[in-house]
Amino acid sequence: MMVAKLVCTIFIRTCLWVLLVPSLTPAMETMESDITCLRSLKSQLKDPHAYLSNWVFGNYSDGYICSFFGVHCWRSNYNKVISINLGGSGLEGEFTSDVKLCSLIESLNLTGNNLSGTLPSDIFSSLPYLVTLDLSNNNLAGKIPSSFSNMSYLNTLLLDHNRFTGRIPSELASSPRLKQFSVTHNDLKGLIPEFTNGKISLSSFEGNPDLCGFPLDPCSDSFYSMAIIAANIAAAAFFPVGVCYGWLYDSHKQRQRPRRR
Ligand SMILES: *[C@@H]1O[C@H](CO)[C@@H](O)[C@H](O)[C@H]1NC(C)=O
Ligand SMILES: *[C@@H]1O[C@H](CO)[C@@H](O)[C@H](O)[C@H]1NC(C)=O
Ligand SMILES: *[C@@H]1O[C@H](CO)[C@@H](O)[C@H](O)[C@H]1NC(C)=O
Ligand SMILES: *[C@@H]1O[C@H](CO)[C@@H](O)[C@H](O)[C@H]1NC(C)=O
Repeated sequence: MMVAKLVCTIFIRTCLWVLLVPSLTPAMETMESDITCLRSLKSQLKDPHAYLSNWVFGNYSDGYICSFFGVHCWRSNYNKVISINLGGSGLEGEFTSDVKLCSLIESLNLTGNNLSGTLPSDIFSSLPYLVTLDLSNNNLAGKIPSSFSNMSYLNTLLLDHNRFTGRIPSELASSPRLKQFSVTHNDLKGLIPEFTNGKISLSSFEGNPDLCGFPLDPCSDSFYSMAIIAANIAAAAFFPVGVCYGWLYDSHKQRQRPRRR
């Protein structure tokens, strides 16, 4: 079973490769672009523990970036990145939008660093093959870009333990292949959109005091506005009754008064 799965994976990768390479080879700059991607990543990030010390640019042999720490390529002799895993490397600084130059990347894992700033809203729609994105346990802030929903192969999106604010983009909820999703421990607020994949559970949203709606508690502000609407309906419905009652009561009193004299 495992072997079959492995053979399948290799087969699919090879097919993808065969399909992709002809579209790539005419444009050498697409390979340059992966080098620029990594070069930008290195220059943007502070690396206090020198994990990126073997990221040395300027050796122009085929596939030289494939031996960089945390970098894997589609083929070891071809400068085209399939994954970057720099989890727990103590990296600091802002996320660079040049990551989009690693255009065929499948997996980007920067969990457990000290990345700060916001996520540029355009980059993720430029990474069509991304399957796994793990940016959990950093210091990222700002909004969750709605462009995540444009990544049709995105399967795992982990943004937990950051400082993201605003709402969860409703577009994300219809992301076709999203299976693993977590935004716990951020400062998100508002109604959780209805995920078409029903498997996203309570544990994906915890630690955001202002998030509400299924699978968390109902939104109190929607209850509040519903209460206001209900009160208005009641007022509208009972206003004529009140007027009539008042009028009847008055005329009743008026009729009674003479009798008492
Ligand atoms: C360039 O990188 C390749 C692959 O990592 C290595 O075998 C080669 O020695 C390097 N050449 C130079 C000049 O550093
Ligand atoms: C990201 O990398 C860390 C180790 O650095 C690993 O524990 C974690 O499972 C990875 N995330 C994903 C989604 O694979
Ligand atoms: C993370 O970076 C901020 C500055 O951006 C710094 O103040 C803080 O000490 C860093 N945290 C860790 C755990 O390195
Ligand atoms: C998704 O991509 C399309 C076409 O590239 C673009 O028009 C649209 O604005 C994108 N959606 C988001 C939410 O970024």
